Amino acid sequence: MFIRKEVKPMTWLGFVILIIGMASVVTISIISSSPEAGKSEDGTQITDITVYKSPTCGCCELWINHLKDAGFTVGTHHPQDLNLFKSEQGVSSDLWSCHTAITQSGYIFEGHIPAKFIRQFLANVPEHAKGLAVPNMPMGSPGMEYGDTFSAYTIYQINTDGSTKVYAEIHAAKDQY
Ligand code: CU
Ligand code: CU
Repeated sequence: MFIRKEVKPMTWLGFVILIIGMASVVTISIISSSPEAGKSEDGTQITDITVYKSPTCGCCELWINHLKDAGFTVGTHHPQDLNLFKSEQGVSSDLWSCHTAITQSGYIFEGHIPAKFIRQFLANVPEHAKGLAVPNMPMGSPGMEYGDTFSAYTIYQINTDGSTKVYAEIHAAKDQY
């Protein structure tokens, strides 16, 4: 009897501790299973923007680094026929550059567009706009740096009907950052 009385409270206390312990393990596992920043529910990395390019394009890699430095999560794809892909995305040949980027929400960014303008566009998408384009590869644009060489260029807005308009004029390298 004496031993039972001693043991019983201990067992009860042990049971309470066990319950608290289990509860905290459950709580911790719930917290740790909630998606981390930048990860989706299933743990895969969220890709903000996917860049379609040729596997050998060096300036594309530099532009991707520019996006990453600006906080984008970037995925890459190498379509068999990049020009066909551009056409399928509704990017007309007069706007073509070396790469085409598409956000998760489906907006299209053709060429060496500064990340600043991609963010600005996504934060406030103009009516009827489906993306931006910097045709060709202007010297001094992000990923096309060559010393202090800089050629002024235009960022075009691509509209859903395929028409374009001027989105921004980049007169100096500093306008890009
Ligand atoms: Cu390029
Ligand atoms: Cu490129």
